[in-house]
Amino acid sequence: MSSKVPVARSIPVLRRTIAGFRAAGKTVALVPTMGALHDGHLALVRLARRHADRVIVSIFVNPTQFAPHEDLTSYPRRFNQDAAALSGVDTDLIWAPTVDVMYPEGFATRIVPEGAAFAGLEDKFRPHFFGGVATVVTKLLTQCMPDAAVFGEKDYQQLQVVRQLSRDLSLPVKIIGAPIVREKDGLAMSSRNVYLTPQQRAVALTLHRTLKDCAAQIRKGRPLRAVLAGGSDAITNAGFALDYLEARNAGNLAPVSSRKDGPLRLLVAAKIGKTRLIDNVAV
Ligand code: PAJ
Repeated sequence: MSSKVPVARSIPVLRRTIAGFRAAGKTVALVPTMGALHDGHLALVRLARRHADRVIVSIFVNPTQFAPHEDLTSYPRRFNQDAAALSGVDTDLIWAPTVDVMYPEGFATRIVPEGAAFAGLEDKFRPHFFGGVATVVTKLLTQCMPDAAVFGEKDYQQLQVVRQLSRDLSLPVKIIGAPIVREKDGLAMSSRNVYLTPQQRAVALTLHRTLKDCAAQIRKGRPLRAVLAGGSDAITNAGFALDYLEARNAGNLAPVSSRKDGPLRLLVAAKIGKTRLIDNVAV
């Protein structure tokens, strides 16, 4: 039986616990999450464990990265289930601040990311998003001062934004990217998959299938433009409203016109009903 994971809900308790880790000479890794944990998150925790002696998982549904019309109030929250799942993967501390602890009355400082945050992908459809992410991730990193922090490639543009902010602010942390964990049929695991009706869930696997198919065609030398046009049709015909399907340089997310501008990453975002899904693959 795994034992209960300690929970810090205030900055003093967080600092005291981490000071204890440090006093014992232990290295620390952080895995930032918004909870509603699935196997994708747990894989991040396992990876973090390989890089440090102590693993902290933060659970905080960050209001500043949601626009007013988005799903902040309905975003799945299930702390007890999350805590139980984390005890099964050897977590040393859960950092679960309230909104008042993270953004106390009078809070007035923001991190405004540029570079990858303006790649014209997620930022085009969620203009508020990376400002909110950059501010909270910077706070989480400075609150915990970890040696390493793990982020999933599932949110590929977010990973690049975090790498950039950590470099630009000279944060003494190693940012580690983790591969996407998928359901058996290829659908990328996401806390938002619980919103899908069985019918939508059946359609949702089109996203990964199309990405894989497009990547295979590009590898065979078919022109990007034709491949992406065919992929966009497949996704739209399946019943999605497509936000984007794009090939970008995998390192800096710059637009590309052919395979030679690579290594390439294919990225997609599309809505089915009210649920917005994102995914990406390497070419
Ligand atoms: P959240 O969506 O909860 O994701 C937390 C971390 O888990 C992110 O780094 C995300 O990329 C990773 N992740 C989610 N699904 C994954 C999957 N199927 N495979 C691999 N990794 C996966 O991303 C956020 O929260 C927030 O923006 C946050 C960084 C916590 C800032 O609020």
